[in-house]
Amino acid sequence: MYNDNPTIEDVKKELRTDHNIPLGEERQGEVLELSANQESSKKFYIESYGCQMNFSDTEIVASVLSDDGFSSTRNMEESDLILINTCSIREKAEDTVRKRLRIFNKVKEQKPELIVGVLGCMAERLKKKFLEEEKIVDIVVGPDAYRDLPILVAGAEDGNKGVNVFLSREETYADISPLRLGSNGVSAFISIMRGCDNMCSFCVVPFTRGRERSRDAFSIVAEAQDLFDRGYREVTLLGQNVDSYKWLNPETEKPVSFAELIEMVALVSPDLRVRFSTSHPKDMTDYVLHTMAKYENICNYIHLPVQSGNSRVLKLMNRTYDRVWYKERVESIYRIIPDCAISSDIIAGFCTETEEEHQDTLSMIEWAGYSMSYMFFYSERPGTLAAKKFEDDIPLDTKKRRITEIVNLQNQMSLIHNQKDIGKIFKVLIEGNSKKSTQDFKGRNSQNKMLIFPKQDGLEPGDYVNVRVNSVSSATLKGEIV
Ligand code: 5AD
Ligand code: SF4
Repeated sequence: MYNDNPTIEDVKKELRTDHNIPLGEERQGEVLELSANQESSKKFYIESYGCQMNFSDTEIVASVLSDDGFSSTRNMEESDLILINTCSIREKAEDTVRKRLRIFNKVKEQKPELIVGVLGCMAERLKKKFLEEEKIVDIVVGPDAYRDLPILVAGAEDGNKGVNVFLSREETYADISPLRLGSNGVSAFISIMRGCDNMCSFCVVPFTRGRERSRDAFSIVAEAQDLFDRGYREVTLLGQNVDSYKWLNPETEKPVSFAELIEMVALVSPDLRVRFSTSHPKDMTDYVLHTMAKYENICNYIHLPVQSGNSRVLKLMNRTYDRVWYKERVESIYRIIPDCAISSDIIAGFCTETEEEHQDTLSMIEWAGYSMSYMFFYSERPGTLAAKKFEDDIPLDTKKRRITEIVNLQNQMSLIHNQKDIGKIFKVLIEGNSKKSTQDFKGRNSQNKMLIFPKQDGLEPGDYVNVRVNSVSSATLKGEIV
């Protein structure tokens, strides 16, 4: 798809290419633009890669830049500032970013005053090494330093390259109102915490996003209320490990837990759906599950990454739970919320994983009955505990074979999960036109499954409808309004 040395024609072709979103939470290079384009002298162009948190951060960045007099553009050739919000989770994600930088370089050759900035996890990981490795980069900004962007950009305009990768123990951007870029106007993400203290041995996130900190609960509720007042009908509360959310209310001097937080957000309105991600099996409490069961508008869907189905591998991964513990959590979910859908993240071919241990992961997929999973093969990340302690000893072809087996099984399981929905009627929140046809709407049910159904007059995105499922694939349900 990319040449090592692209021509400007390649760049133009690239600009016309829609970036596809592959399997996994990792989203690829979406170009985001403010829905209402303000007139302004300076324009920024931004691409985001990686997890939802990065996309949410991009909305913070847009807000900071907009306050600084910038407006956004989808056309990188007309921009004064190109930003790329990067992901370090796997090597492939970093390779993609470097390829994009080569594309930006071609634009900069035509427009030397253009400023290029690298944001996010890769900026944090490589710090000022980025400026040496990638000559076209002018500013390097870590996830906790976005308030500093106007100063760094101004410095770069004066010819000074700048780096701010300071990781904070307090920054939550609680007072910054995110600019909802490329939003469908129906569902939005709200960041409720930042960082991660878990130190899973494979994961680079604790190093790139720093220590865990929770955001002021009242600012979260206020953001949800504001979104609802503006017509939004669904919020997803985001954190690396939402179950360890804990914020000390200065008035009562009592901590607010995650279960209390979702209740507070659910009470904004029964017409506002509440979702959250990601749940950690070691921290997910029955209190959260009972709160979900109590409120119809808290969606019956939990993303509960297992990573591996084998206890020895889980120990090496430093997940701090074993297979038995995980199964008990899944049983509690189905007991307290019988129609809850559960999804997972799975890593194939972690250091020293045997064939039997891989089989344990396959059997877990079947046993847990995941509605879907994000599946990856292990990619060693510099600086992580696993990189320091273990050899990345599973050959690439074995990793690929194992991930293929995992993907095939999950696809079968997803199909079976969906087939059980045939004939059922679901309350669906309309998100917009289906990708394939303007005659059809798309929307999700509480279980986070996408439904496609013919439009009816008088309905619009943001409305709830009851849809009966008539047919399914492993990815979507098709039906009709009843
Ligand atoms: N290699 C492969 N997958 C990884 N993940 C995190 N780190 C790695 C890695 N080094 C996966 C985990 C995590 C998801 C966001 O990405 O499954 O839950
Ligand atoms: Fe990474 Fe584990 Fe933290 Fe998730 S919980 S961000 S996998 S260290």
